[in-house]
Amino acid sequence: MSKVLIAGNWKMNGLTSDAAREATALAAGVAGVPHVHLMIAPPTSLIHPLRINLFERGIADRVAIGGQDCHANVNGAHTGDVSAEMIVDLGGSYVIVGHSERRTDHGEGDATVKAKAEAALRAGLVAVVCVGETEAERRGGETLDVLARQVSGSLPDGATVTNTVIAYEPVWAIGTGLTPSTDDIVEAHAGIRETAAGQIDDVANLRILYGGSVKPGNAAELLALDGVDGALVGGASLKAADFLAIAAAAPARN
Ligand code: PGA
Repeated sequence: MSKVLIAGNWKMNGLTSDAAREATALAAGVAGVPHVHLMIAPPTSLIHPLRINLFERGIADRVAIGGQDCHANVNGAHTGDVSAEMIVDLGGSYVIVGHSERRTDHGEGDATVKAKAEAALRAGLVAVVCVGETEAERRGGETLDVLARQVSGSLPDGATVTNTVIAYEPVWAIGTGLTPSTDDIVEAHAGIRETAAGQIDDVANLRILYGGSVKPGNAAELLALDGVDGALVGGASLKAADFLAIAAAAPARN
């Protein structure tokens, strides 16, 4: 089995009827992508329904489930939040932390993201730690510095290549149809890996995903790039056929 991970982030989309429909569509196509790991992070409301639907169709072992965020604490007076332990309780095995929409909409900085990633590890979840530069930072030539700062500030203490994944998501590429040049993606992933080497052993085996406007039409080119170990897919993960087409485009990588 390769280390490639194709992860879907449904964001704030989907009702229980969608979970059932998507599970059926995934069940129809998942046999065609035996060479990659699959994970879907639905809204919290759908973690359990999607998990049940995957079980009923016999593919719960092929499609892991994740949360899109978690609180740093186990429980307490945090209205509207969900803990990493609660995600585990619902059948989740991953959680995304530090997505740019959390960093921007909820003012989450690196210290908060790190605390959330540590909560993920505490609960036994794999933390998918997102980093990425804004358009202004890219134009200002600050991309590698921003990524280094975010990686060193957001990676959890105790991170290993099995409990932590990094997703490189340029903020300006999310939901816009824009992607960096292939050279820029390779450079960013190499920079991220170099920074992570200070905190994670065996960093060659760390999974670093690319995210931002990944679609069936560009997946083969993006996923073939040096240092790209999978994708974090937003919009195109909402339809199982597109999500599976992206997975099918991934090379098998050890
Ligand atoms: P997108 O989102 O694929 O819709 O650009 C990616 C993400 O935000 O994870």
